[in-house]
Amino acid sequence: MNFTNKNVVITGGSQGIGLATAKAFIREGANVWITGRSEESLKKAAEEINSSNLKIVVSDTSILQGITVLEQAVAESGVKLDVLYLNAGIAIFAPIAQITEADFDAQFNTNVKGHFFTLQKLIPHLADGSSIILTSSGVVTGAAIATAAYSATKAALNKLAHVAVNELADRKIRVNLVSPGPIQTPGLDSVAPGEALAYLASSTALQRLGKADEIANTVLFLASEGATYINGADIAVDGGFIQYHLK
Ligand SMILES: NC(=O)c1ccc[n+]([C@@H]2O[C@H](COP(=O)([O-])OP(=O)(O)OC[C@H]3O[C@@H](n4cnc5c(N)ncnc54)[C@H](OP(=O)(O)O)[C@@H]3O)[C@@H](O)[C@H]2O)c1
Repeated sequence: MNFTNKNVVITGGSQGIGLATAKAFIREGANVWITGRSEESLKKAAEEINSSNLKIVVSDTSILQGITVLEQAVAESGVKLDVLYLNAGIAIFAPIAQITEADFDAQFNTNVKGHFFTLQKLIPHLADGSSIILTSSGVVTGAAIATAAYSATKAALNKLAHVAVNELADRKIRVNLVSPGPIQTPGLDSVAPGEALAYLASSTALQRLGKADEIANTVLFLASEGATYINGADIAVDGGFIQYHLK
């Protein structure tokens, strides 16, 4: 896949799936912006990638000011975007009886409102025929305990994507979802201690956790010339999902 001179924005690109995807696009010749809340993490990612094609933007997607910072960075560059990968996300797992309003709001502000308004603000900067990809989750198809708020954010995100398919069709902009299963990332490590990781691995047919690169490969494919008739799809990248019963 060749993305030479293509312009790509990845939200939540300082670690995990977003970072792996940024590396993959850079390898294929793209110019890439990555965002995150922590300047330190973004600088670390930039050192790791070590390419003049990478730009970092400190931008908290959960608040409109943060999204405006990203929009201004893109506007000032004067380029049109070929790929928008809406990937930033947080997960806080707790049963309905226990989840706090703050945890509920934090997840909806990042995983839903953030993507909604990033898309809105960047629509004028998207090239006709560009590709939007959103990171959903395999949890949407299950009903594991302690995932109600997180799963609801991803279900809402799926609906945003479905409507965007139709609203952006006149500009031939494609919108697709990637739904990862359990992927080994700092984010997963922070919510699933060792035993839970082993359980998640065993809940897949392949009996292992996925790698961030395996999501990146799918994102690049969806953005590529090989996927020009794929629109409104939700690609599960989960090793063969059996069922999660997070406890
Ligand atoms: N790993 C899995 O098993 C899995 C499974 C299904 C779906 N997913 C989804 O995949 C996406 C990436 O997950 P991951 O596992 O790679 O997570 P991760 O390792 O925690 O990385 C998350 C990235 O998002 C950024 N981020 C978080 N909140 C943000 C905010 N308010 N504004 C801007 N950036 C923000 C983080 O940077 P800062 O912290 O510096 O802001 C970081 O770069 C998420 O949407 C997640 O829900 C992951």
